[in-house]
Amino acid sequence: MTQTVLLAGATGMLGNRIAYNLMEQPDARVRLLVRNAADAGKRAQLEPLLSRGAEIVEGDLSDRDLLDRATQGVDVIVSAVQGGPDVIIDGQVALAEAGKQSDVRRILPSDYALDLFNATPGEHMMFDLRRDADERIAALGLEQVNVLQGAFMDLFLPGRGAIDLDAGTVTFWGDGTQPIEATTVEDTARMTARVALDQNVGSGKFAFAGDRISFQGAAEIIEAHTGRTLERRSLGSEADLRAALVAAHKDMSNPYGAVMLAYLLYMLNGQTALSELQNDRYPDLKLEGFVQFATRNLPTYA
Ligand SMILES: NC(=O)c1ccc[n+]([C@@H]2O[C@H](COP(=O)([O-])OP(=O)(O)OC[C@H]3O[C@@H](n4cnc5c(N)ncnc54)[C@H](OP(=O)(O)O)[C@@H]3O)[C@@H](O)[C@H]2O)c1
Repeated sequence: MTQTVLLAGATGMLGNRIAYNLMEQPDARVRLLVRNAADAGKRAQLEPLLSRGAEIVEGDLSDRDLLDRATQGVDVIVSAVQGGPDVIIDGQVALAEAGKQSDVRRILPSDYALDLFNATPGEHMMFDLRRDADERIAALGLEQVNVLQGAFMDLFLPGRGAIDLDAGTVTFWGDGTQPIEATTVEDTARMTARVALDQNVGSGKFAFAGDRISFQGAAEIIEAHTGRTLERRSLGSEADLRAALVAAHKDMSNPYGAVMLAYLLYMLNGQTALSELQNDRYPDLKLEGFVQFATRNLPTYA
């Protein structure tokens, strides 16, 4: 049965890949909610989707009339938006409310994280926003599927903060051995497109992961691939990280400093680890592990 999917965030890093993967599904009709669609860069990005039959509804999540129109005839809403409370809470809740009025059956909010529902309220701003939005959406009574895939795998590549090939270091809090779930952006998008249309998936968390990786484990794989040796540098214990987080919460000049430390805290203590992974739900969809991903993405340093 063909289902109509409304995707918000199709010009984003993840959302654009979800859009392509939705277009691959034979039973999906795809509608994209895009703001400033006339922008030349966006036009170029969206053209391949339009030429394959996607439809655009132009506007912002803050425009309730637009949301009422955009959700007409829609079966499933997929959100891959990013932003502050105005987008993640107000925008997504308004989208879900419009969906409810238009008899949309299901929504996949923009979660795509570790298990944010296990975070301690007040500790991680981005997880708080999503949990708050998801609770409000749940109260509306739509089916809600929370896609949880851990971190994006490129976090463990050199140049993304932890591993610095030029300096020859890997930097972490604690001893760097705590593994966390991680998945490539492409696999996250592939799974999301499948789950969105899978009527046998019930409301609640839908977790999967391409791999479980620690900073030490990633360093070993990168060392093996590059022939380099990376010096291990611990920034301190979990108590030290918590102290840095308290200080960062007080530093109004950089609100994202605290967000980064909160991600690292949950990567260190495993509090938001994923469980009940559904990696094998679609036998034809194999998730890429870190060795293969790193090998594809790393230059060879002889
Ligand atoms: N687990 C991880 O490691 C990880 C890492 C990165 C991201 N994520 C998650 O993945 C999701 C998507 O993130 P991303 O990095 O792909 O985001 P992104 O590249 O910043 O894209 C955000 C998208 O949301 C759209 N948008 C924002 N505000 C909007 C509004 N008011 N109305 C309509 N559209 C709006 C943007 O449209 P414009 O193009 O018009 O701005 C864009 O298409 C988020 O939930 C994020 O937390 C997870």
